[in-house]
Amino acid sequence: MMASSSASASSSSANNSYEIPWVEKYRPTKVADVVGNEDAVSRLQVIARDGNLPNLILTGPPGTGKTTSILALAHELLGANSKEAVLELNASDDRGIDVVRNKIKMFAQKKVTLPPGRHKIVILDEADSMTSGAQQALRRTMEIYSNSTRFALACNTSSKIIEPIQSRCALVRFSRLSDQEILGRLMIVIEAEKVPYVAEGLEAIIFTADGDMRQALNNLQATFSGFCFVNQENVFKVCDQPHPLHVKNMVRNILEGKFDDACAGLKQLYNLGYSPTDIITTLFRIIKNYDMAEYLKLEFMKETGFAHMRICDGVGSLLQLCGLLAKLSLVRETAKAV
Ligand SMILES: Nc1ncnc2c1ncn2[C@@H]1O[C@H](COP(=O)(O)OP(=O)(O)O)[C@@H](O)[C@H]1O
Ligand SMILES: [Mg+2]
Repeated sequence: MMASSSASASSSSANNSYEIPWVEKYRPTKVADVVGNEDAVSRLQVIARDGNLPNLILTGPPGTGKTTSILALAHELLGANSKEAVLELNASDDRGIDVVRNKIKMFAQKKVTLPPGRHKIVILDEADSMTSGAQQALRRTMEIYSNSTRFALACNTSSKIIEPIQSRCALVRFSRLSDQEILGRLMIVIEAEKVPYVAEGLEAIIFTADGDMRQALNNLQATFSGFCFVNQENVFKVCDQPHPLHVKNMVRNILEGKFDDACAGLKQLYNLGYSPTDIITTLFRIIKNYDMAEYLKLEFMKETGFAHMRICDGVGSLLQLCGLLAKLSLVRETAKAV
């Protein structure tokens, strides 16, 4: 009986590896395990150690560890008490004025016995999606209950948090993770899940993730469960972004003065159905990493940025993209003449 149940447990864990998203399975549980953003993480580690939690705003791009850090911090500070002493609300919960007035206030008034120097914690994830009315209601609550309750907010853009709340909080900034940091984390997961891979496959994952760890892990898992092998081709099939090599060819053609070839490459991409935004984002990142004269690179980035702006304004036609290639060719000609 024992043997059969342990055998079924091990086989079900093998099956589960397909079902549990790896982002959850490998979510760090300690602040110290959060990769990258050393300044931010070491600040939070000091708080976790000393227990002196201020009201916090964690801000930065998606998939960099904000939610993970807050959850880990709350857990490290409160341990076994975290069940009753932590209130977590994210964007999927109703967080209108009423909830702030009632639910959060009730929680703040609740008596929980905690070790000295510890506070109850209200976690407001994706706080930039709260209406400013609800935020206004929050500022007073923050102050009144400051001796028993602390607030930790996470958001993508801190400017969407109203000033009075910002001034009551310590701001911790997260930025995109470096390729090395993502690679390190990927390798841990790859070893644990025994994922077969080649180096170019990982490069492709890191390129498409663009500093977003969540996306990197999701793309890894999607490629693995779809193809059981991580190479460049499979990754780009799964992620369906314009192939960087194709875009790289476009840039090379421009630099070699072959405008028609560059345009043909662009049309090909466009006809495959990639949106102008996808094409221009990839183009920008290729240019940023392309080995070319610094002056030229800066000019190319500038022009690509302007074109991106026009596309965001709604002018996302093939003509617009071809116009950009023409502009880039022109920039190159003038640079050569100088
Ligand atoms: N800095 C990081 N170190 C390790 N894993 C990370 C990091 N950032 C994100 N992850 C992974 O990505 C997932 C999503 O991270 P999360 O903290 O929710 O990101 P967000 O910054 O968008 O709140 C986590 O479950 C974790 O697996
Ligand atoms: Mg989050």
